[in-house]
Amino acid sequence: MPCCTAFATINGCSHWALDMETDPSCNPPLSLRLKRFLPRSLFGRTLVIFVVPTFIMLAVATYVFFDRHWYTVTNRMAQALAGDIAAVVELLQRSNSSATTDGVKHLALKKMELTVNFAPGEPLKHIRRPHTPIAVILKRALNDKLSYSYVFDLAYAPNTIGILVEVPEGVYTFLTPEKRIYSPTTEVFILWLLGSSIFLTAIALVIMRNQIRPIRRLAAAAEAIGKGREVPWFKVEGASEVRQAGAALMVMRDRLKRQIGQRTSMLAGVSHDLRTPLTRMRLQAELMGNNGPDMADLLSDIAEMEAMLNAYLAFARGEEAEAATETSLSKLLDEIASAARRQNPNVSLDVPPDIEVIIRRNALKRCLTNLVANALRYGSRAEIHAQASEQFITILIDDDGPGISPELREEMFRPFTRAEESRNRATGGIGLGLTIARDIARSHGGDVVLEDSPLGGLRARVWIPV
Ligand SMILES: Nc1ncnc2c1ncn2[C@@H]1O[C@H](COP(=O)(O)OP(=O)(O)OP(=O)(O)O)[C@@H](O)[C@H]1O
Ligand SMILES: [Mg+2]
Repeated sequence: MPCCTAFATINGCSHWALDMETDPSCNPPLSLRLKRFLPRSLFGRTLVIFVVPTFIMLAVATYVFFDRHWYTVTNRMAQALAGDIAAVVELLQRSNSSATTDGVKHLALKKMELTVNFAPGEPLKHIRRPHTPIAVILKRALNDKLSYSYVFDLAYAPNTIGILVEVPEGVYTFLTPEKRIYSPTTEVFILWLLGSSIFLTAIALVIMRNQIRPIRRLAAAAEAIGKGREVPWFKVEGASEVRQAGAALMVMRDRLKRQIGQRTSMLAGVSHDLRTPLTRMRLQAELMGNNGPDMADLLSDIAEMEAMLNAYLAFARGEEAEAATETSLSKLLDEIASAARRQNPNVSLDVPPDIEVIIRRNALKRCLTNLVANALRYGSRAEIHAQASEQFITILIDDDGPGISPELREEMFRPFTRAEESRNRATGGIGLGLTIARDIARSHGGDVVLEDSPLGGLRARVWIPV
């Protein structure tokens, strides 16, 4: 099968999609290749439309918050803490009595939440400083305010920051609760944002599922109608547009049914009424008693017209409402092959067992019987093969006859058309067999196409969606 041709649209799936899966050499345009990464279902796509912007917004909001608000707040708090420590160090350095020193320490504890200890004569211990954003901010603030060497530890004790300042006489240790420079609103903010986004997305998912269910039902109904199955009138729920589409589909189905029924019965009526004058003409011609060649021609023309009318009437009668039912394809083909073998034993059948399809049984039987009859009429043997895939069943009918040249194949589907134009009944029939076969396959949502057969004659390929 050449790339990107064949069955145009099957089950709503474009031929690109089908070919891309089966033919790696198929090279579709970029936009289609990008689409492969998008979810296929409406639900999936709506989810992307919902979730992607929400989480992008979340990321942007978090970034902006971190960059602006959090940084500004933390910086101010760090500056205030560094200022307090610098002031306390200065006051302690200037105090010349232990009473003043105790007073300053007391003030630092009560008013600035700073616990101050002094270790005389000790050198400054080195503490490995982490490179967190808070550490960087605090370091910058201490550099700004303090004129002594210092080290700090953000986790000196649980929830406590320790800042060690070296003065010529020893080392001051300042302990202060973490909350003096650390604002917990960041986590709270992100948690709230994330939590509410997840909550809203979950609600949206539930609502979306309910909105998509009626669309799915509508699609299933449209598909069943396309396959010629009986679809009861159903009430479409959901958004007003979906309801409108559902009602329109049902009205369209009824109108189509009415129109087709009207055409069929009108043609059947005309055919039926034409038979009376034709019979009269035949009787009159016979009564005229002229046995010349002209009379023989006239009688054969009349006989042909009668045969055409009868063939059409038989078809129109068969069209009368037959419901689609679950049918075993192997049994149906077995029946067709057995009936054909009564005329010609050279009919072989190859069909996997257990293929169940929903079809109008009598109609499909007529379709396949016509094709097998053609194979045996124009060839000397017929081979029937059937196979089923997930999307459709295919039935191939091969013969070893003369075949039909490719440019004539479509033409042969037109009513009352024969390759052999003499209308000699010995070399063909009425010319309605292929027309009826295609009509039935198409009313099931499938088709009949003619191809070259490996047996040397014609291959009729029938496919019906399942
Ligand atoms: N298997 C085949 N091999 C060769 N030619 C075929 C084959 N099937 C059909 N044809 C050609 O296509 C024409 C149309 O076929 P179709 O079945 O529509 O009519 P028919 O066989 O002539 O008459 P009937 O209405 O009795 O079937 C035939 O007349 C014949 O020329
Ligand atoms: Mg035929």
